[in-house]
Amino acid sequence: MFDLRSADLLRAFTRQLELCKVQRGEHVVVLTEPSSRGDYVAAAFGAAQTLGAHALVVTASGGSPAPMPSTHTGAGPGLVSVLADQVAQGVLKAADLVVDLTSEGFIHAPVQQEILAAGTRIIFVCDAPEVLIRNMPQEGDKARVQAGVDLVNRSQVMHVSSAAGTDLTVELRNAQPEFQVGFADDPGRWDHWPSTMVLCWPEISNGVIVLDEGDILLPFKEYVRSRTTLHVNNGQIVEVTGGAEATMLNTFFEDSEDKWARYLSHMGWGLMKTGDWFATAMYGKNEIMGMDARAFAGNFLWSTGPHPVLDRDSYAHLDIAQRNNTVRIDGTTVVDAGHLVEH
Ligand SMILES: [Fe+2]
Repeated sequence: MFDLRSADLLRAFTRQLELCKVQRGEHVVVLTEPSSRGDYVAAAFGAAQTLGAHALVVTASGGSPAPMPSTHTGAGPGLVSVLADQVAQGVLKAADLVVDLTSEGFIHAPVQQEILAAGTRIIFVCDAPEVLIRNMPQEGDKARVQAGVDLVNRSQVMHVSSAAGTDLTVELRNAQPEFQVGFADDPGRWDHWPSTMVLCWPEISNGVIVLDEGDILLPFKEYVRSRTTLHVNNGQIVEVTGGAEATMLNTFFEDSEDKWARYLSHMGWGLMKTGDWFATAMYGKNEIMGMDARAFAGNFLWSTGPHPVLDRDSYAHLDIAQRNNTVRIDGTTVVDAGHLVEH
């Protein structure tokens, strides 16, 4: 009887920690909950030791504040046990790098900003091993996503269109563009392995979004089966029409009893060329978060619910990944009919 999965992952985790610029003598904290993958914990621990860092595994009690199952949804609400524990937060603030192996991560928990403000780098990992390895980031990806952030920063309007009928105009003023690149190398940086994307946080958008067959609804991790039309007025989804997916989305908004559920949140496009659109079909829902869909090169990714730039707290977070859209930032096309364009 043997289990070599963690040894098999050691090289990938070591490469990831090298990309995170882990230095000899730094403190790496592997943050886990009881349901975290043991092979990932061992691989992260071994990788930190391999690079000469101090390695510490911290296991906090499970339990999420979000009113939905913790099945790698992407809502990032954090763990109640960490949110309510100054000692746990102190350990994370004192770390140089946190390898976050919890099911949901802390991306939408305000406490994460406090930890980052202490200079801690955080890399969140929860997709399946093959997904991590196939989408291992490259150092040069940072310049690619930064170019997109710079473009959004100096632009006024994002326009999204598709043959299916999408026609959405998004105001970019104060949209605070940012990127994910798949490694956390700068002090105070959070990132997610794997990911390569540009996103921003607009307030005002108007028009129509049409979900086409084969687009992906997250966190449900399901493909759209029939065209669905969403009417957007000043950043709010005011009507959803179509077949089964329209019914599902309307029910989700209704059930959430959340005043921000119908409001658009982050928006952007993927640059991850190794992404696989069919990963969503090939894994169980508890095995992946769906970063192949979210960061897929040439997608249009948009979301609903929590919006930290506008101080909107919400657990009703949908990420919707679409193909075959054209995304223009002022006069520059960054995605042409679903194909990534890099200048
Ligand atoms: Fe999201």
